[in-house]
Amino acid sequence: MLKGFVFDLDGVITDTARYHYEAWKHVAQEEAGITINESVNEQLKGLSRMDSLETILKFGHKENRYTDTEKAVMASEKNDYYLKLIKNMTPKDILPGMKDFLKALHEAGYRASIASASKNAPTIIDRLGLTTSFDGIVDPSLLKKGKPDPEIFERAAELLQFDNSEVVGLEDASAGIAGINAAGQFSVGIGDKTILKDADLIFPSTADVDLKAIEKAFNDQNN
Ligand code: G6P
Ligand code: MG
Repeated sequence: MLKGFVFDLDGVITDTARYHYEAWKHVAQEEAGITINESVNEQLKGLSRMDSLETILKFGHKENRYTDTEKAVMASEKNDYYLKLIKNMTPKDILPGMKDFLKALHEAGYRASIASASKNAPTIIDRLGLTTSFDGIVDPSLLKKGKPDPEIFERAAELLQFDNSEVVGLEDASAGIAGINAAGQFSVGIGDKTILKDADLIFPSTADVDLKAIEKAFNDQNN
């Protein structure tokens, strides 16, 4: 029986993906002379800060060039840049349809938690005015592995005290869909169906996310 929803944040509830991209583009160019493009950015979605940096360095064939201390400095510079970009976020930055979707699922008696790799998730949720919409936020610093590992989604279901089979996970990244599927949760992809092809159900955009359609697909799969 469907009981709850586990949400990715960046690209699902708000469009911080473009800020992450802008911040990495700046730091990769300035610090490592690496020019990243949209296709590299697609691979970064859902990855932790350090995993993102490693992916960028590998793309630029510089994976063995820097010490751990230098990498930590780059990651922290990226975060400083990112924090400046998200400073003025307000509830207006909630992606189309998501506020109504959250309202609908609470009215229907479901509970929700956040499974984001971002250490900035609590700040962003607060700026969006959504703190009371979630019953828990997974602390990514306590995880052994990041997405596509299922751990973050399993913790998010645990926060709700639900079994993996009782929750739906929503994601905009292929690494996230892989994690939701590996956790044994029902996966909902939001975005390009060629990228999110492994999702159990796909909506082209957040504005299309529909509770009734999710309930139907979930029940069809479980009957
Ligand atoms: C999300 C984003 C990633 C980002 C990660 C870490 O999962 O999709 O692009 O790298 O969070 O974010 P943070 O705010 O901790 O640097
Ligand atoms: Mg995302």
